Amino acid sequence: MSAELAREVKRRRTFAIISHPDAGKTTLTENLLLMGGAIRSAGAVRARGEQRRTRSDWMKIERERGISVSASVMTFEFDGCIINLLDTPGHEDFSEDTYRTLTAADSAVMVLDAAKGIEPQTLKLFEVCRLRDIPILTFINKMDREAQDPLELLDEVASKLALDPAPIYWPQGAGPRFRGMIDLRNDMFTLFRRPQIGDTRPVDHDTIPLSSHSIDQVLSRAEIEELWSSAELVRGGYPAFSLSSYLEGHMTPVFFGSALRQFGVRELLGGLRDYAPPPRDQEALEKGVVSRVLAHRDEVSGFVFKIQANMDPAHRDRIAMVRLASGKFHRGMRLKTGSGKQISVHAPLMFVGQDREITDEAWAGDVIGVPNHGVLRVGDSLSESGTIKFSGIPNFAPDILRRASVKDPLKAKHLKKALESLAEEGVTQLFRPYYGSDLIVGAVGPLQFDVLVERLAAEYGLAVVFEACAFNGVRWIFADTPSDLVSFADRNQVSMGLDLDGAEVFLAKNVWEIGYVAEKFPKIRFSNVRERMI
Ligand code: G4P
Repeated sequence: MSAELAREVKRRRTFAIISHPDAGKTTLTENLLLMGGAIRSAGAVRARGEQRRTRSDWMKIERERGISVSASVMTFEFDGCIINLLDTPGHEDFSEDTYRTLTAADSAVMVLDAAKGIEPQTLKLFEVCRLRDIPILTFINKMDREAQDPLELLDEVASKLALDPAPIYWPQGAGPRFRGMIDLRNDMFTLFRRPQIGDTRPVDHDTIPLSSHSIDQVLSRAEIEELWSSAELVRGGYPAFSLSSYLEGHMTPVFFGSALRQFGVRELLGGLRDYAPPPRDQEALEKGVVSRVLAHRDEVSGFVFKIQANMDPAHRDRIAMVRLASGKFHRGMRLKTGSGKQISVHAPLMFVGQDREITDEAWAGDVIGVPNHGVLRVGDSLSESGTIKFSGIPNFAPDILRRASVKDPLKAKHLKKALESLAEEGVTQLFRPYYGSDLIVGAVGPLQFDVLVERLAAEYGLAVVFEACAFNGVRWIFADTPSDLVSFADRNQVSMGLDLDGAEVFLAKNVWEIGYVAEKFPKIRFSNVRERMI
């Protein structure tokens, strides 16, 4: 391990935002970039003609295809830390990628709308974080609007997520009466000031000790007394923040603010700098032995967590998004997958602010884009030796299943090949029931089917329809004794099938049936996640 590598690893923070649509993820992202100075510098880069053209071409494709391409990861610097913010597509393009992105993150920021608290999509994404022991910082947004009582919000975090909230700041009022927040660690009060309309520069908010005389000039006596007493109540009522408890995923430090008014954003970044973990060690198999790949290890390694297709539709190119797990990467390096495929990375992309550029080097914790022609697939491990296979690139059971059929029956074989190759990108999944020749496609979000129809037509010349099918739920099945699995499969043949990698699945008519069958066959485990080792 070199001292340079140790230093670079230590200052990296790779995280994703989890939230329900409309909680303010986009606004927060923009303001994080602004605080990190990335938007301003990105603006300067964009001014260069060539780059601008490339960029807008890409954006057009994104719009037309409904695929979010440009913002998979945004890198910027804050106070000596290199922050890699991974985008978790939400809204209609919520897909398996959204879940899988979390496997490339070392921590997450959970954004809650102060008026709404925990909403369904936050909960779904939270469950994935819990599965992977990803530590979570909470940001309660939109304090400039009418909000729920912050105590109630914290109770909701505790009861719905079984996570101990540890407020780091505490707000005074909300909506029109929002005055700011106190730092519970040192009783410093940050005064909220609404930025002028159209003011896009970073706003500085004054910070005043709550015990000083000057606080009387900005808060009323009643407000000051309320703050003192709520600070006392909160300190007494919640456990003090414990870094180890947060890192183990039991506790969440809670920050407040308004992304739109740029309030609390700097403090949140301070929280990431001080508390969020640097690149984690990754579990792997090396020459068949379970090991941990330390981020400090000199050998460069990483794994593909996302494939972006069609940045340029003229060439069927794919960009594999690789999360580097260890070492210092150099442009031109040769890397091998766990299954022996070799690639030379001549044009690795980094995503600085909102732009992409070819990079000469990158470090453990960073994400690079590796252009290739379909050689790399989601879950592939890459390393210099080719002997590392990372575990834990999971598949998640899709919520929506549809039967694919092609209008021209002569093209059925062609359809199978096309769906397989699209499923290898990891956004949709393909299941083959034991009986019949149906091709069942699964996705987490409905938009994926529209995207598939378009891509099948444009790239494979196939007119495909997706229809409702007999199945509405799917689970991977496991048992401690192989014969139990065999006898289960025998007795449920019409509901059995295989996924793309040949793993057995139970295809259910509905979620209720899964519960019913699970009760009848207690030796079988029904899982909505399958971990792959590639
Ligand atoms: P998302 O990516 O999580 O879906 O949320 P997004 O940032 O797009 O924010 C959703 C809406 O909430 C937007 O309003 C945005 O302006 C607003 N918003 C975000 N943060 C805050 C905040 O701190 N305070 C207030 N008051 N509003 C906030 P919109 O009307 O849907 O869009 P727009 O017309 O403002 O763009």
